[in-house]
Amino acid sequence: MNKILITGATGFVGSALAANLLAEDTRVVALSRTDPGGQRTRAAVEKAASGFGLTLSPMQWSRLSIVEVDFRALDQTLQPHVFEGVTAVWNVAAEMTYSLKKVIDSVDQNVVASSMLYKLASQHASSCQRFYHVSTAYTVGFGNNDAREEINFTPKLINSYQLSKWMAELALIHSQKERGLPLAIFRPSVVIGHEQTGWSSGASFGMFLMAAAVLYGKQAGSAQLRLHLDADTRPNLVCIDTVIRRAMALMKAESPARQPTEIFNCIGDECVTMADVVEQLQTMIGVQVTLGPPVTETDAQLNAVFERNKQFANGRWVFNSERLQQTLGEEYGPVTMTQDIIGRSVLHYVAHKVAEAKAEERSNAAA
Ligand SMILES: NC(=O)c1ccc[n+]([C@@H]2O[C@H](COP(=O)([O-])OP(=O)(O)OC[C@H]3O[C@@H](n4cnc5c(N)ncnc54)[C@H](OP(=O)(O)O)[C@@H]3O)[C@@H](O)[C@H]2O)c1
Repeated sequence: MNKILITGATGFVGSALAANLLAEDTRVVALSRTDPGGQRTRAAVEKAASGFGLTLSPMQWSRLSIVEVDFRALDQTLQPHVFEGVTAVWNVAAEMTYSLKKVIDSVDQNVVASSMLYKLASQHASSCQRFYHVSTAYTVGFGNNDAREEINFTPKLINSYQLSKWMAELALIHSQKERGLPLAIFRPSVVIGHEQTGWSSGASFGMFLMAAAVLYGKQAGSAQLRLHLDADTRPNLVCIDTVIRRAMALMKAESPARQPTEIFNCIGDECVTMADVVEQLQTMIGVQVTLGPPVTETDAQLNAVFERNKQFANGRWVFNSERLQQTLGEEYGPVTMTQDIIGRSVLHYVAHKVAEAKAEERSNAAA
């Protein structure tokens, strides 16, 4: 039976991957920080399973083990026996901050901890077929619109996240040459909710940061909001279930054609325009949104919420996923992005935020 070691199982992508692996009877070892009893990880995986419409049986749950580690000292806190029987590693965890003030935290987790995990896996996981590292399609950087499944050695990088994810790709490729454990760098673009249920974890990242900005404007009482974005860009959005389906299919596609080091872009296949995305934001959040420079003080504030993603949202990359398509063949399964899919995703995010705010109100009232 396969046994997959995962990091990041308390997060959006990692919890979804863990839930889907358990649902197909795979054993999962989740490495988590600050989760001594494993409750945080279990709760996240349970929510993801429910978001995918999956019910895990007690037997399937029994195949999940959670190991608490300190990612800053993996060599001291991750015991070699944890790697016994591990058939693949999925390194999903990442420090997601964009802040350049936190660049050391980003490098510590995204570069150093990832490289240490690769090193430990190559030393102790004797049954491991491949180390999968989740990166981002935006390591291509700015200034090169042709986002291919290769390293861009001259990228323009603008924040700690993008910088550290790019550095991690280089470090891991270098380690692979030295240590030999096959490596796949798996790069999603902007991950949105489940195609059918709209489920996401509620984290305000990527498109959801735009939704957070619009929610902020609505809560400030404005009837009309302006987002300073280009109407005709085509943001590359990919549903969480597409990402997970392709990730799982990759593990089944181990064949002589696979390479020691591979880079795959996991992207949306046909994309709607920014104007279409904004139309869904306004419909689902219930406030009028137009595109253009801020007019009111509230506009300025909500654009500030969204500022760190603006350059990405206005970017005009052409993402290529030829290698992933070739490797997966029919399993690739292109998905055309539609306004309905985006609408469900926004609706789920908004419901999540409303529930979160109500829970906070209740706990404040009780305090
Ligand atoms: N979401 C997207 O749109 C998107 C797009 C492209 C690529 N990706 C990639 O997908 C992966 C997962 O992203 P996500 O959306 O699932 O993010 P997420 O929901 O924020 O989850 C991040 C995960 O990483 C862990 N983590 C964060 N900072 C850490 C640190 N300093 N040390 C150790 N663990 C840390 C978190 O653990 P705690 O619960 O302990 O904080 C959590 O398990 C990342 O590698 C990201 O680069 C995501």
